[in-house]
Amino acid sequence: MKISIIGTGYVGLVSGICLAEKGHQVICVDVDQMKVEKINKAIPPIYEKNLEALLKKNINANFRATTDLYQSVLETDLSLIAVGTPFDGTEIDLHYVKEASRQIGMAMRDKSSYHVVVVKSTVVPGTTDDVVLPILEHASGKKAGKDFGVGMNPEFLREGEAIEDFMFPDRIVMGGMDDKSIGVLEKMYSVFDNIDMLRTNNKTAEMIKYTSNSLLATMISFSNEIGNLCAAIGGTDVVDVMRGLHLDKRLSPIMDNGKRITPAFTTYLQAGCGFGGSCFPKDVNALNAYGKKLGKPMWLLEAVMKINEQQPRQIIHMLEKHFPSLEGVRIAVLGMSFKPGTDDMRESPAIPIVTELIARNTNIRAYDSVAKKEAMKLFKDKNIVFCDDLNQTIHGAEAILVLTRWDEFENLHQIIGKCEKQPLIIDGRRMLKKHLIKRYEGIGL
Ligand code: UDX
Repeated sequence: MKISIIGTGYVGLVSGICLAEKGHQVICVDVDQMKVEKINKAIPPIYEKNLEALLKKNINANFRATTDLYQSVLETDLSLIAVGTPFDGTEIDLHYVKEASRQIGMAMRDKSSYHVVVVKSTVVPGTTDDVVLPILEHASGKKAGKDFGVGMNPEFLREGEAIEDFMFPDRIVMGGMDDKSIGVLEKMYSVFDNIDMLRTNNKTAEMIKYTSNSLLATMISFSNEIGNLCAAIGGTDVVDVMRGLHLDKRLSPIMDNGKRITPAFTTYLQAGCGFGGSCFPKDVNALNAYGKKLGKPMWLLEAVMKINEQQPRQIIHMLEKHFPSLEGVRIAVLGMSFKPGTDDMRESPAIPIVTELIARNTNIRAYDSVAKKEAMKLFKDKNIVFCDDLNQTIHGAEAILVLTRWDEFENLHQIIGKCEKQPLIIDGRRMLKKHLIKRYEGIGL
């Protein structure tokens, strides 16, 4: 199939290159000329595992990037809208979605064959039918359902695992205004084998995306709240509590062969210094605001956000237990990105933590081999030294904070074992071998 993707950000580019790898002819469109040139030279504009290899393989074959939206729509059967939908504090900003829809519509005006426009951006329920569809009709002068189709196909891509998630998805949700629109989406995904596919309407597809992220975020805040109580009780460990919880067959079912479907202790029930990234905070806040607007406040989700906003403070509290004043304390911060596998600093818990440490006049060295550049941009001109080497970072530190679950930190006990004076270790991700560390503090302990 011939597919154009409008918006070559994280979602657009990953979707585009994976669809090309699956055999479709894909054109990725972006307004940023520099980005387009980079992509066409197979240089990934973002850090994502396996992206470069796939770009190299598919560029000039099944895949190319361009700034020419008009021509791309004319040459393809289906356009995916994958532009950003930033949350401005009260609602998601649909400016880019509307502009993309308008331009697709203008191009469709000059097209005689049936075209399908599919929203991939995360948008609140009703956006595809009530905002995108009318703009398309108005700009094209054509009739939805007759001359063109409209669909909604949310993405469930984790940063750092996005290519893998796209190629081997848990499920594909295909929303559409009618059977014909969904049929075109089905054709696009027919190259995927053995995947659960859900056909539904646009509004439900939109709601599935928010609901999914909201539940995962709720599980994390739940674990963090329980963890904070465990810490207050003393002598209870949230890691064991969650492991005990998760051995319930209703959470980890046992298959016919006697094995559990999921590992005994899965992700999203891990207490830590909070969730970040471009999705969870934005989507939970957006659904909250949307509910409020409809006169249906989302009490649970409000609490999920409140817990998350306070969670980074736990790290500071743990430090305060050991240092009467933080002024001048030599602190090594390990991990800056919001999670491993990415250089993304958006909403990373490291931001409020480091900001507070700077305000307290501590002596900070930070290390993140992938996110260093991004972190340096954020803390430009601030009193913080960024190191290139783990040993150099922790040398002479009185306290070491682990804020991102990078594999590299797993054997920290071995490195600090060699230190003359044992630093305090604060495990913000509960990833270290606590029994091998002399001075250990961890979330939920
Ligand atoms: C998420 C969803 O997983 C994905 O389906 C959606 O489309 C986009 O948002 P992503 O933001 O890449 O993906 O990150 P994810 O791996 O889900 O982690 C989000 C945050 O939660 C990270 O900051 C992570 O450190 C934190 N987290 C995750 C926890 O604190 N505890 C956990 O148990 C799991």
